[in-house]
Amino acid sequence: MWRLRFLRKEVFYMSKCFAGNEVFSARTERKETGVHCIEYKNIRMAYGEKVIIENFNLAVEKGEFVTIIGSSGCGKTTILKMVNGLVRPVSGEILIDGRSIREMDLTALRRNIGYAIQGSVLFPHMTVEKNIAYVPNLINKKDKAKTAQAVEKWMRIVGLDEELKTRYPSEISGGQQQRVGIARALAASPEILLMDEPFGAVDEITRSSLQDEIARIHRETGITILFVTHDIDEALRLGTRVLVMNEGRAQQFALPREILNHPATDFVRQLIRKKELYAS
Ligand SMILES: Nc1ncnc2c1ncn2[C@@H]1O[C@H](COP(=O)(O)OP(=O)(O)O)[C@@H](O)[C@H]1O
Ligand SMILES: [Mg+2]
Repeated sequence: MWRLRFLRKEVFYMSKCFAGNEVFSARTERKETGVHCIEYKNIRMAYGEKVIIENFNLAVEKGEFVTIIGSSGCGKTTILKMVNGLVRPVSGEILIDGRSIREMDLTALRRNIGYAIQGSVLFPHMTVEKNIAYVPNLINKKDKAKTAQAVEKWMRIVGLDEELKTRYPSEISGGQQQRVGIARALAASPEILLMDEPFGAVDEITRSSLQDEIARIHRETGITILFVTHDIDEALRLGTRVLVMNEGRAQQFALPREILNHPATDFVRQLIRKKELYAS
């Protein structure tokens, strides 16, 4: 069982991303270890005859918060689902900590990867407490006190009031359901958290407070996050690096300020321009 690393080392590393024939690189505050947390190698993906993703290469370092933005249908969800084996590429490889997921047991793999998606995916017949306790229960087996502690801890971390414990999903708001979903994903102590437009269905104020929570959780736990969004502000605000996709191809993978100051393609430039138009 992998464990969450609560300490992050402030050292330097160089990471690279190849997309098609282009090479992107970004220097951030990590050490070059040679082994990436998540690596996509020469990925080609098709559903039937329809090619969705081609020549896709990406390396994500441990502790990064990568936001993924792009037009609808460009393959963002597919990119996330390849990490936990829900979708298998036609060719190419996904490596986690340097190991191909083809060699891994999918159940064990998924237990180490939290997956939070848009809308409520909670068990409707279970209380908030039971929903969050689901994986800790599997791990702690008979140690009920340990599970109760875990539930309390994660509810506090995602900003849920303790009195909500006994409510059912239908008895709490959309924003609260989203928090329960995140607490449930985190309660398994995953090394990696995949989030697919998790805040898409909540109002602006709730969205902003959920963004604050996830940024804080990321800072405090050092968990590696892949976060899909269609909101450029959200992508730039949350991401330590931002991946911009269009039609199955990476347009740019860079620090937020790099995206803003030096958009690599017309597509990225338009995305930024739209943001400026809305802001003015
Ligand atoms: N199970 C599937 N079968 C066939 N086509 C699919 C399937 N899942 C996704 N697609 C298609 O693949 C493309 C990429 O989908 P997706 O990764 O969900 O895009 P995004 O999340 O960026 O909107 C879309 O054109 C979508 O219609
Ligand atoms: Mg999607």
